Amino acid sequence: MTGKIPYGGDYNPEQWPEDVWDEDHRLFTRAGIDTLTVGVFSWSLTQPAEESHDFTLLDRILDRAAAEGRRVCLATGTAALPPWLAKKYPDTNRTDFEGRRHRHGQRHNFCPSSPAYRRLATAMAARLAERYADHPALLAWHINNEYGGVCYCELCADAFRDWLRDRYGQSLDALNDAWWTTFWSHRYTDWDEIEPPNALTEHWRGPDHTAFQAITLDYFRFTTDALLGCFLAEKEAIRRYDRETPVTTNFMGMFRPLDYHRWAPHLDFASWDSYPPLDAPPTWPALAHDLMRGLKDGAPFWLMEQTPSTTACRDVNPLRRPGELRLATFQAVAHGADAALYFQMRASRGACEKYHGAVIGHAGRDDTRVFREVAALGRELETLGGATLGARTPARTALLFDWDSWWALEISDGPSRLVKYQEVVHAYYRAARAAGADVDVVPQTADLTAYDVILAPALFMVKGDLAARLEAVAARGGTVLATFLSGRVDAHDRAFRADVPGPLAPLMGVRVDECDSRPPEVVQPITELGSEARLVFEIVQPRGAEPVATYGSDFYAGTPAVTRNAFGRGAGWYVATALDQPGVDAVVRRVLARHDLIGPYAGHPAVETATRTAPDGTRLLFLLNHAAAPAHLTAHATAEDLLTGKRVEEGEPLSLEPLGVAVLRLLSRW
Ligand code: GLA
Ligand code: ZN
Repeated sequence: MTGKIPYGGDYNPEQWPEDVWDEDHRLFTRAGIDTLTVGVFSWSLTQPAEESHDFTLLDRILDRAAAEGRRVCLATGTAALPPWLAKKYPDTNRTDFEGRRHRHGQRHNFCPSSPAYRRLATAMAARLAERYADHPALLAWHINNEYGGVCYCELCADAFRDWLRDRYGQSLDALNDAWWTTFWSHRYTDWDEIEPPNALTEHWRGPDHTAFQAITLDYFRFTTDALLGCFLAEKEAIRRYDRETPVTTNFMGMFRPLDYHRWAPHLDFASWDSYPPLDAPPTWPALAHDLMRGLKDGAPFWLMEQTPSTTACRDVNPLRRPGELRLATFQAVAHGADAALYFQMRASRGACEKYHGAVIGHAGRDDTRVFREVAALGRELETLGGATLGARTPARTALLFDWDSWWALEISDGPSRLVKYQEVVHAYYRAARAAGADVDVVPQTADLTAYDVILAPALFMVKGDLAARLEAVAARGGTVLATFLSGRVDAHDRAFRADVPGPLAPLMGVRVDECDSRPPEVVQPITELGSEARLVFEIVQPRGAEPVATYGSDFYAGTPAVTRNAFGRGAGWYVATALDQPGVDAVVRRVLARHDLIGPYAGHPAVETATRTAPDGTRLLFLLNHAAAPAHLTAHATAEDLLTGKRVEEGEPLSLEPLGVAVLRLLSRW
């Protein structure tokens, strides 16, 4: 495979005089930077007034990049309204959850239903495409930036009503039925009576507390589609002038407000910005990487942004320690990233991100620790060349990730506000990854035929024919694991008229009538697993399933907390409570072991492994040591480390430095 991983990031030279650009490019060359994302916030420069456009700066930025042999990911720049536009067309400004119409300020601030915004944003995308489609530097289109946020204006209310007419086939009866509006005297007799759910209507105590979950859910879906509509309009404008260059927009991984699965078919490739929460374990960004890889059926994605050192937006902004940037970057590549980009190439002098980490700081030095680490990584990526490009993850385990379930669970009154979807999902993902299994994170609609194990944590909403497809997995010998708060509601958030876990009950072989939800200090011992459980305790009556572990106390002591149900040639596992991590690990390892899916380095908790298969069939194994101490392993196969060129013999010692990485090309059979 020729080529190499694009390496670089967000670059805003329009903020600087041109003599600084000379310095930038000299340093880019030193650091192996070949890709620049430009124009992300340039609208007020490229269009200083409605009738006036000025692309001279952008021309120079792209021409300079081309002259230096660098490629450009060109943004349409429509994520921040220019002040003149917000002033001239007040309806482009959002109306917030409290019903207040905003004025010009900040960014990511446009109403997705505003015709003026739509017209001007698409016109800008069209102009840029017309001008730069054939530019030699152009590598990809980057529409807008980190789409998100909600608007509750009158235009959005009207657009919501249209969206509902469409969703419910013009039938108010269907809507009333779906939303269960007979409850609290809400039966609608005219579409115009419907209001967006916010602080003035259905909500109290904020966006997660609603009287009608189904209305709020539909507004989340509408918002996803409204913003997607903005993206599609820009993409269409680009395609009028450029039929080929791939188009993306930068996502945010596990970002609750937008259902990225609804967007995925419309992207040419997925890309995302990784800013893991402080103190997140390495499996947290890994889960997000795998979710992003799952958007395009396992095709590689771009790491569009990460900080080379520190963020600025948090109360405290720790540095990435020496070696952490390298490790995080190879982790992204291990999970399917085919590009490694930063925010940002040079730090702003002013405004709220001036202390955000950058490859080049205010002083323009190339002898800082951060610059040296970035440059060293640039050299390594050159060494790696195209070995990983286009490679796929041969996972046999899938984890179902579902925005509808996330939303419905977290806006639900009862059983517990303390259960957080991401935390449940992460616990199961983490257990599988620690055991050395590659995991595809996929939507409910994914083709499940390639998998031996399906993890369905907190799958609150079960849609379409999913239950039948899960039964098919078990019938042919696979294992399906579901947890508490799975199979609770249909696509309209209506409880199933059936025993819990609804459509999953036959596969799980259990019936749940009651769920005890307790504060975090109440702990249930689960002795069979050497574990404890908290928050919710579903009381399980086996209907064919055998108990694997039981509750240790209270009136349901001795009843099952974990069950296994033989189904066809496989099984359904049900975990009825929020086990601690050792408990989840124990259950998931038993399931994976049954399918021979425990990895060769599973005994080394700090060492993450990930597999990719290159288009030519080359098998790559990434070893990532997340500990600040060296890791001493025994090689399970003969391989060549692509970063050092050294050969590793099967059965011989294999050591990783603290935070060390090896990219092994496997030469012998696994
Ligand atoms: C986001 C944005 C960037 C920048 C960074 C800072 O990812 O896309 O413009 O604000 O955050 O971390
Ligand atoms: Zn609006």
